[in-house]
Amino acid sequence: MDKHVLEYKKTQGFNLVVQSADLLAKKLTFSQNNTIYMINFSLSDLRKAIDQAYLIDETVSVIELMVGMTDYNPADAEALARLLVERIRADKDKQTVVDAFLHEYQLNSAEGLVLMSIAEALLRIPDAATQDRFLADKLASAHWQEHLNHSDSMLVNLSTGALLLTGLFERHVKANASQVFEHLLGRLGQPLIRKALQSAMHFLGSQFVMAESISSALQNSRYHREFLYSFDMLGEAAVTNSDSERYFSAYLDAIRELSQESGDVPLFEKPGISIKLSALCPRYEPLQHLRSVPELTAKLLALAQCARQGGLTVTVDAEESERLSLSLTIFEAVFTHPSLKGWPGLGLAVQSYQQRAPYVIRWLAALAKSEHRKIPVRLVKGAYWDTEIKRAQEQGLSGYPVFTRKSASDISYLSCACLLLAEPDAFYPQFATHNAHTVAAIRQMAGNRKDYEFQRLHGMGEALYRNLARDPDWLVPCRVYAPIGQYQELLPYLVRRLLENGANTSFVNQIENPDIDIERIVQNPVAFWLGLSDTEKTGVSLPVEIFGRERRNSEGMNLADAEQLFALQKRLDELSGTSHHAGPSINGNCLAGSEQVIVNPAYRSHKVGTIAFSDADTVAAALDTASQAFEAWRSTAVQTRVRYMNNAADLFEYHNTELVSLCVREGGRTIKDALAEVREAVDFCRYYAARALEFFNRPLTLPGPCGEDNFMTYHGRGVFLCISPWNFPIAIFTGQVVAALVAGNTVVAKPAEATSLTAAACVRLLHQAGIPGPVLNFVPGIGSEIGPFL
Ligand code: FAD
Ligand code: 2OP
Repeated sequence: MDKHVLEYKKTQGFNLVVQSADLLAKKLTFSQNNTIYMINFSLSDLRKAIDQAYLIDETVSVIELMVGMTDYNPADAEALARLLVERIRADKDKQTVVDAFLHEYQLNSAEGLVLMSIAEALLRIPDAATQDRFLADKLASAHWQEHLNHSDSMLVNLSTGALLLTGLFERHVKANASQVFEHLLGRLGQPLIRKALQSAMHFLGSQFVMAESISSALQNSRYHREFLYSFDMLGEAAVTNSDSERYFSAYLDAIRELSQESGDVPLFEKPGISIKLSALCPRYEPLQHLRSVPELTAKLLALAQCARQGGLTVTVDAEESERLSLSLTIFEAVFTHPSLKGWPGLGLAVQSYQQRAPYVIRWLAALAKSEHRKIPVRLVKGAYWDTEIKRAQEQGLSGYPVFTRKSASDISYLSCACLLLAEPDAFYPQFATHNAHTVAAIRQMAGNRKDYEFQRLHGMGEALYRNLARDPDWLVPCRVYAPIGQYQELLPYLVRRLLENGANTSFVNQIENPDIDIERIVQNPVAFWLGLSDTEKTGVSLPVEIFGRERRNSEGMNLADAEQLFALQKRLDELSGTSHHAGPSINGNCLAGSEQVIVNPAYRSHKVGTIAFSDADTVAAALDTASQAFEAWRSTAVQTRVRYMNNAADLFEYHNTELVSLCVREGGRTIKDALAEVREAVDFCRYYAARALEFFNRPLTLPGPCGEDNFMTYHGRGVFLCISPWNFPIAIFTGQVVAALVAGNTVVAKPAEATSLTAAACVRLLHQAGIPGPVLNFVPGIGSEIGPFL
């Protein structure tokens, strides 16, 4: 049995046992011979399984998903998708201006990125002067002339002309970009350019927003009765209570207004409302679960009760992956509330790009059955992919919470669709997609069933659904997700849409590109994935490997994973009684001094330990020792110094929790910030080690005053005094010390007096890593008292 299968059985064994290891090791087909045992598990077991799959190995996950795609017939799905793509490409009205614009300005071009950042930021900048400076800075960095008359769309060519005007310098003047912009502004006038770009950004945004108010949205929807609607009040990620109250009122008012329009039709044909929980609580984050869960449960319940009364449905949107677990807890509490008994109007969006998606669906099925009613589930691939990847890297997670290959998200989507369709008593499936193959596969798998719907976003997928509706066998409705609100609230939503339309892996982007062959666009994702080599199957380097061979990224903790969070809290509780002592360290010896008691700044009655402060003699000894140690340290091989820094990084990682505990207790940092500090210190050690290897191994050539070359080599300069602030007691303290040390300098380190114990712990680890005592000396004390001697 190969390794994958063993791991797979260990972590996933609870729900699916695949008999033939051989089958997994080989390329999987849709063979019906797989022996799969489904075992009934309790709701809490199924919930636990979701957490266990958080960062699960991508390849193992895809294999499991493929095993579950029993009803999928790739050849039939491809045939229908081909037909659809041909029709869309032949459709004269297929291309919106946004499509044309994003096709011209691909997101992987400098120009695409400039436009993206303008869309994201321009209208958020409150004053005209800063807007002008921002535009000058952004517009100067791109090559607009290459796009002139390039697009089929006249509007796009005109816009390019306007952008080219703003960047006139590129063709005519080889001067400083900002000078040219100034010159141009002088000729055209700042307000003109600013206004033109503001209007352009408003126009771009308006493509994705149905209306500014719910009443005008209702009016617009009356012209398109062939669609159902789910209205979304724009607004998310509230940062203040008043924001969240404002968004809550907007949802409530919208539900009341929509209620009057709900009509005498079955529930799933009524309009719906889509809610983002992040709009309703400013602390909707895992570390604030004690606050956010009750707060959001109360608000969602109130909205659901109102929707039930008004004859509407409610869907909870899916947001960032770290919020998934919170959202499920809130959803369960509201769904099982006695006041909603018997009402199948509360639904949830599930993102198939998350490896946890199938586990969420299995849990939802059990939840629906336990309450004897359906849950409408909107299946999406997920709109936060770039953010998820960057966050996992920034947090140094052991894996990604989302698939890194597009075909894996597609496979997951189809596999989750099978799960939804297999449980007609538990689910009303709502398939949200703009991809022809995905739509075709659902059609093929669902056969003649009518108990589900498709969904698309306002401003997207029009041609696909228009062409599907022409089919006489068309059986199911399509619902439009219709954002309502002002431009100011649109920006995050707009950026997600621009990313989606602009990404060259997106169906909506590929269909606009005549160079991409239809066969490639409609190819079934299983064939695509199986055709990848083993290395290609993992699309993005793991978070710890993002710096390649140069250095390892620091390891983080996944605080959104309840198990890890509780384990950390338990260890911190155990450490909370530890009493620490430290004092000056000269020549590797810990000296005595005037003893100070250190207390926790958050709980002043809690003693953290004691520190001995340095006096004038100690300081003098430190300086003297560091001076004497300098020559030997400077001539130590750079590889040796680098090894000590890398050892230090490993030791900081190993003693992570002890450092966090101290930093929280002595420095008053939050747990999350303290963890980030340790990671930053680890990164500093490895980063400076890498730079030292890079620079110290080659001579430096600097031009002299008369153009001659001066040859130098990097070398230590002497004794460095490193004085650090209290607000970054680990990261900044360590960063400046290791930078000086690796370059061949000796150090006298003076920490902020408020965080001396934490700094002393770092010094101990640096010594343990191999840095000789005389090379790194430590003089805790009060700045105003020992400063004059330093
Ligand atoms: P495709 O082009 O087939 O797929 C694009 C998607 O593939 C990307 O969005 C991403 O999810 C995934 N992807 C791209 N590159 C990679 C990669 N390298 N590795 C892995 N995966 C990759 N999104 C939410 O997050 N929450 C919601 O609540 C939500 N509600 C929606 C409601 C409706 C009605 C619709 C239509 C969409 C909603 N979305 C939501 C947005 C949705 O996630 C995107 O529109 C969707 O992912 C696009 O998928 P597709 O099948 O249309 O296009
Ligand atoms: C988003 O806000 C549509 O919910 C999805 O991007």
